[in-house]
Amino acid sequence: MTRYQHLATLLAERIEQGLYRPGEKLPSVRSLSQEHGVSISTVQQSYQVLENLQLITPQPRSGYFVAPRKAQPPVPAMSRPVQRPVDVTQWDEVLTLLDARTDKAIIPFGGGAPDITQPTLKPLWREMNRVIQHQLHDVLSYDTLPGRRELREQIARLMLDGGTSLSADDIVIASGCHAALTLALLAVCQPGDIVAVESPCYYGTMQLLRGLDIKAIEIPTDPNAGISIEALELALEQWPIKGVILVPNCNNPLGFIMPEARKKAVLSLAQRHDIVIFEDDIYGELATDYPRPSTIKSYDIDGRVLFCSSVTKTVAPGLRVGWIAPGRYLDRVLHKKYAAIGTNVPGTQLAVAAFIRDGHYHRHVRRMRQVYQHQLETYTCWVRQYFPCGICVTRPQGGYLLWVELPETVDMVCVSRALCQLKVQIAPGSLFSASGKYRNCLRLNCALPLTEANREAIKHLGVAIHNALEA
Ligand SMILES: Cc1ncc(COP(=O)(O)O)c(C=O)c1O
Repeated sequence: MTRYQHLATLLAERIEQGLYRPGEKLPSVRSLSQEHGVSISTVQQSYQVLENLQLITPQPRSGYFVAPRKAQPPVPAMSRPVQRPVDVTQWDEVLTLLDARTDKAIIPFGGGAPDITQPTLKPLWREMNRVIQHQLHDVLSYDTLPGRRELREQIARLMLDGGTSLSADDIVIASGCHAALTLALLAVCQPGDIVAVESPCYYGTMQLLRGLDIKAIEIPTDPNAGISIEALELALEQWPIKGVILVPNCNNPLGFIMPEARKKAVLSLAQRHDIVIFEDDIYGELATDYPRPSTIKSYDIDGRVLFCSSVTKTVAPGLRVGWIAPGRYLDRVLHKKYAAIGTNVPGTQLAVAAFIRDGHYHRHVRRMRQVYQHQLETYTCWVRQYFPCGICVTRPQGGYLLWVELPETVDMVCVSRALCQLKVQIAPGSLFSASGKYRNCLRLNCALPLTEANREAIKHLGVAIHNALEA
């Protein structure tokens, strides 16, 4: 975080805590610069950030004042999906979203890519060069079936932060979290089986179910606390469900972290009904609060949690480095991996292992947590400023995704088509439902930098939504 962002965050916190009250005059630029040992222009930049966030207002020749408090938009209510097993639809819509990746002129608010421009990633690029220069033989050779041991050792170390104590031998490398989830599902399920998912649920995971001929049953999910344990229990009593896919930490798309008691409750429900949990922790390391939240896997005593993750969101998607800790399904996962994929590419595994081992990963993730928190706050303010009244917005506890619910009459599928002409891409909510619900919702990627062009894009989005409301 830069100095001015740091100061802006500090002042925003003081306003939030009521240390500066609405209408109160803020310290002068000069006195803040002396107090914090920063330049006048740094303070001015911080005040500009707070002004953009509508937390303060300038008054000519008088200075800056705390803005009157605007009510925060409410968080969406618990979802109410159709609670029966269905075949996943929406593939054409997902394909349209994926196709947009080829057009560099598009502002990709609809995707889920992280910011890969930060200086804390430089050691990784250096490591990739070093690996090619000094370990070319390893880079060009077959990998071992479970993946490079030096990487699995580092992942075992990382997993300790989430409370899970495993050895390198308990972990299998996969080319991303999607591949890890594929192996997990292949190891447990047959075509025709039923798997429960949170609703809304990340569209890639649902298309994976469709690809494996597995039916999805969507379970009501609370945007603050996660899947409804009661609704899941009811579904388990009614249907022969094989397992449940959960993103309990910094959920995609809702951003919640499941409270610890709920993580334990869902695991004991899984034990009672003898089902598995497919735990997807891809955003878990990006929790705003430190230390990071624990994983469901950390409570797993009988190996029924198949834990999947990757460095896609924390480091970079192009590395294609992910992993699975499959518990009692280890042998099956290894066989499915051999049958479906063979082995992985060793080069990026070696570079990522060194990046973690030398402390660069933790430094980078620490920085990104702050960057994303600041960006989430700013995008939330822009949404509040440019979108119509009557919206609900999530308050993510980490990651960089924002979920917005609009009045029922707004069809975001139509709005997103209209936005294509303006080269602004968003993810309509219907992608996140097996049966195309949530057409009045959208997901925004707040990893995109806080540029004027991106602010303009949110403004255009707001106008398009206003137009849709009035149509
Ligand atoms: C929740 C979730 N799981 C899995 C994936 C797939 O991750 P990867 O790119 O590592 O395969 C994503 C990517 O967006 C995701 O958001």
